Amino acid sequence: MTHTPDDVASRGLRESATFDRTTIAAIQHAARTGIYDIRGGGAKRALPHFDDLLFLGASMSRYPLEGYRERCDTDVVLGARNAKYPLRLQTPVTIAGMSFGALSGRAKEALGRGASEVGTSTTTGDGGMTEEERGQSKHLVYQYLPSRYGMNPDHLRAADAIEVVLGQGAKPGGGGMLLGQKITERVAGMRTLPVGVDQRSACRHPDWTGPDDLAIKIGELREITDWEKPIYVKVGASRTYYDVKLAVKAGADVVVVDGMQGGTAATQDVFIENVGIPTLAAIPQAVQALQEMGVHRTEGGVQLIVSGGVRNGADLAKCLALGADAVAIGTAALIALGDNDPALDDEYRKLGSAAGYYDDWQAGQDPAGITTQDPELQQRLDPVAAGHRLANYLRVMTMEAQIIARACGKAHLHHLEPEDLVALTIESAAMARLPLAGTSWIPGQGL
Ligand SMILES: Cc1cc2nc3c(=O)[nH]c(=O)nc-3n(C[C@H](O)[C@H](O)[C@H](O)COP(=O)(O)O)c2cc1C
Repeated sequence: MTHTPDDVASRGLRESATFDRTTIAAIQHAARTGIYDIRGGGAKRALPHFDDLLFLGASMSRYPLEGYRERCDTDVVLGARNAKYPLRLQTPVTIAGMSFGALSGRAKEALGRGASEVGTSTTTGDGGMTEEERGQSKHLVYQYLPSRYGMNPDHLRAADAIEVVLGQGAKPGGGGMLLGQKITERVAGMRTLPVGVDQRSACRHPDWTGPDDLAIKIGELREITDWEKPIYVKVGASRTYYDVKLAVKAGADVVVVDGMQGGTAATQDVFIENVGIPTLAAIPQAVQALQEMGVHRTEGGVQLIVSGGVRNGADLAKCLALGADAVAIGTAALIALGDNDPALDDEYRKLGSAAGYYDDWQAGQDPAGITTQDPELQQRLDPVAAGHRLANYLRVMTMEAQIIARACGKAHLHHLEPEDLVALTIESAAMARLPLAGTSWIPGQGL
């Protein structure tokens, strides 16, 4: 006889918080197979997050703006510190780097289409630059990665900005995985790899060991691209205060901080859940570092892009209020393209998952045609329609952030400030350095 959870509870059985059913199943799986779990996505455990913050809308002491009549601008300029041609975007929501290989060529094309429709940027990834995405992306950021996969000096020149990746929030200190079933001839050719063999990408750049060497590398990248393009440095959130300072010292025009809720195409579950710090905790550290170096929201300063678990306009507005200049989204963009669509539930179940739970992006069997290299599955994604869905979602996010900003009396999204926010829990108040709602108490900063 099987027992439903209600039946079990009514019989007085109590689930252990330490050895809960998920933990027991994981131990049993390890014992049965001798294999650790590799998956896509970000941390699933409950962490202090944007939901733990609330905005203080204006009333008497602050003056709100009228939704349909008064402007609230959304544009952002990235990389004016050194670049001849900084990126000028219409919305501060950018598309994060996701590799061709992890994603199909059509998915990369759809990301480019959607981002371009709303005037924002998209980013290459571990697999290098594809024609589809360069062709469809008005603003394309080219990743320069520890793996050097797909590295091509012509592509550096063909890009609109360069992102030097030092780490990712899902796995700071670790590399990614690309399972053999995704390494088709095309993917193998772009990465100079054998077809069909599992690959682990490097956890650190072979070209430098510290910030002084990084400064030399950034100098080389600027020379190759004639000082035209902004240079970003991306770090996974861990010792964020120091990492941001070192990135700025090394010459970054833009720093990207990716928190531990950030998605990945594939890595070990134990890594995703146990390494790094939450996005919320990383933002104030990054902002403090930029402020102390005199480059936060100053003329010719360094912009901060934040990623890791950004889902909607409220999350966007909270990031900006805490001091970010823009956000980057990965997981949410894939969902907007059509990932985890309930209409595909039967097919997800055949793979041992379900719509809303499917994170086996490493496996290459995605029925939505997004995280796959299978020639038939790929055909299921219409890049034009998927691009429109992404554009709609990006518009909604931007409008949601405007709604909140106007309610706080701000005529530009960048006028949002920490003073507009309070925290719901002591943990989030301490990490975000905000007062606990209804008090003026910021934990760790006295009364
Ligand atoms: C399918 C997938 C592939 C990714 N590939 C890369 C990559 O090649 N390089 C990289 O720096 N980050 C990669 N990332 C991480 C994203 O750039 C970004 O940091 C993360 O997705 C942000 O968190 P979010 O997914 O919660 O929005 C990938 C993420 C996903 C979901």
